[in-house]
Amino acid sequence: MNEKNNYEIIFESQRIRDILLKIDRIAASDCSILIIGETGVGKEIFAEYIHRKSNRRNYNLVKVGLATLPPNLIESELFGYEKGAFTGSTHEKKGQFELADKGTIFLDDIDDFPLHLQTKLLRVLESKEIQRIGSEKTIPLDIRLISATKVDLSELVVQEKFRMDLFYRINVFPITIPPLRERREDIPVLIKHFLKYYVPDREIRVSDEALEAFINYSWPGNVRELRNVIQRIALFADTEIKVENLPAEIIGDKSMNIFLKACGHCFRNKNLTFEEVMSCVESHLLESALKEAGGNYSQAARSLGMSLSTFRDKCKKHNIDKT
Ligand SMILES: Nc1ncnc2c1ncn2[C@@H]1O[C@H](COP(=O)(O)OP(=O)(O)OP(=O)(O)O)[C@@H](O)[C@H]1O
Ligand SMILES: [Mg+2]
Repeated sequence: MNEKNNYEIIFESQRIRDILLKIDRIAASDCSILIIGETGVGKEIFAEYIHRKSNRRNYNLVKVGLATLPPNLIESELFGYEKGAFTGSTHEKKGQFELADKGTIFLDDIDDFPLHLQTKLLRVLESKEIQRIGSEKTIPLDIRLISATKVDLSELVVQEKFRMDLFYRINVFPITIPPLRERREDIPVLIKHFLKYYVPDREIRVSDEALEAFINYSWPGNVRELRNVIQRIALFADTEIKVENLPAEIIGDKSMNIFLKACGHCFRNKNLTFEEVMSCVESHLLESALKEAGGNYSQAARSLGMSLSTFRDKCKKHNIDKT
């Protein structure tokens, strides 16, 4: 996918709608925003969205991926340097902060920001000016900071891997993007969107059973994983995506689903906790054993391999009797 030109946020869930409403309210201010979320939830496209909604939209959005930048290059990349500042610096270089002037700087994976440079980053953010390495001159900066993290930064503060003062400075407005499995309503519209994107010239349907498998899968790689799966199967799909076209991990992710499917109540209420599902399953097992045994408690207890007293206690707990 051409990630450079595709910033549209596709959603159906109330949770994403609420986040976008919140963003719309604060986009025009210059407050620092921290985007928190698992891999692939869309942190980068939300950063794009914020930048485009802000008054800085006609200036640069400069993205710095701290997890992919070699730690020894972070300082020169961000702050820039003068000619002769260190061995090999044969010419001056603007840092990413300078390039983001009047626009937005996006510090992705901020949790990877080296501890020894955190004071320097804080100083730049507080003073709104920067000095290139090897220079005394201060350059004024007008930037908006958006950071992103996959991990709980406050936890890193406790472990003394992240400075508390910097944490408060970047966390003025936190936005948590929920994982896809907590907003399954977004799955059908995202599938439609990616199908249209990857196969613009053909309409591809998704069978009900395949859609159900997509919705039930846990999506550890979130929207990115969904996008990649659709891209892969769209290559081979004719007119309809059927359950047998789905990758094994999606069909195979059934641990809870076997139970859920066996029970209409649990299946409809996908937000039940593990305990609630287990309790529902137990109640169904007791009920069907009693029915099969024609109402005979001893026989029903035996068929489930439990003592009569345990069986009776459990039936009482679940309000089950032979009628
Ligand atoms: N709501 C959405 N609508 C459309 N596309 C989305 C949505 N959310 C994510 N995507 C797409 O999913 C892919 C992953 O999103 P993105 O790169 O923003 O995730 P991320 O949270 O930054 O992941 P990582 O932590 O791994 O860097 C991108 O191609 C992005 O365009
Ligand atoms: Mg990202």
